[in-house]
Amino acid sequence: MVRFQQILVGWYNWNKRDLPWRNTRNPYFIWLSEIILQQTRVDQGMSYYLKFVKEFPTVFDLAKAEEIDVLNLWQGLGYYSRARNLHATAKTIVENHKGIFPESFNEIIKLKGIGNYTAAAISSFAFDEPRAVLDGNVFRVLSRVFSIETPIDSSQGQKQFQELANELLEKKNPAIYNQAIMEFGALQCVPVNPRCDVCPLNLMCEAKAQNKVKMLPVKQGKIKITQRWFVFEIIKTKTGNILLEKRNEKGIWHNLFQFPLKEFSNLEDKQNYLNPKNFRFISKEYKHILSHQHLFCTFAYRKEKVNETTDKFISISPDELDNYPIPRVVEKFIEENANLLFVK
Ligand code: ADE
Repeated sequence: MVRFQQILVGWYNWNKRDLPWRNTRNPYFIWLSEIILQQTRVDQGMSYYLKFVKEFPTVFDLAKAEEIDVLNLWQGLGYYSRARNLHATAKTIVENHKGIFPESFNEIIKLKGIGNYTAAAISSFAFDEPRAVLDGNVFRVLSRVFSIETPIDSSQGQKQFQELANELLEKKNPAIYNQAIMEFGALQCVPVNPRCDVCPLNLMCEAKAQNKVKMLPVKQGKIKITQRWFVFEIIKTKTGNILLEKRNEKGIWHNLFQFPLKEFSNLEDKQNYLNPKNFRFISKEYKHILSHQHLFCTFAYRKEKVNETTDKFISISPDELDNYPIPRVVEKFIEENANLLFVK
């Protein structure tokens, strides 16, 4: 019988996408690409990867950048802790490793913002270390081909799938094999409506034989989602500027800028606050979904103008907004309502 690994790698050679981070062994570029792709699709991440490589061609360039410039380049990708960790880790590599990217899994995983998956990806892609990657794509392929019903988000599932992934890893060629299984999950063994009829693994796929493809992988899905109700206030000064505040507290959007924010513990309190007497304009509600939080965001333009800035806020011309890193949901609102910010 032809082996699982041979089929995957054969399929990969014919079907792989030509992606820029696949044509390099430079661990710095590979690291950049993996951090960008952590919560981002390839088609969205591509332009960011190219921008980062151009703006910061070496780890030294990234290390000496100002944080606000790194965050601005990241603008639109969300989950900004990735960008902050990227920047902090670049500094660590310059200060503690003379600018040379660590070359083994055990060293790489000590870096901030790098977990098991990313350390396995970098050490195998850049240095051919035999470390099996385990990401959402790999979980899906393995759970189906071997018909494994252990929840992938349980500790038992993590262990079981990691052991299987390690066993299957082609140790002579870990870079290609790891890319191949991830690409296979991304393009062929897709979450919804995979084309099993044309799949090269369909004869050995146990889920297909048992008609269980649709129900795999299993997730127990116990993460608790917090709901939060936000009103961002657009507050004009008497000179036509708008107020912004910097988020200093840890948690979501650390160090980003936003319109002054009021938070409510439920929808009713928020609606009571949004009295049309006080606002010229009240936006629709934007639902912003993060991994552990659902944010219900409304933007409201205050009638009353204020004097120039206080300790808490800065005041800027609406044209200058581009210079400040802002949460994705605020950016979305601005994209749809840019004119409003210039209304006197
Ligand atoms: N997603 C995460 N890492 C990736 C990679 N190296 N290639 C394609 N998609 C990815």
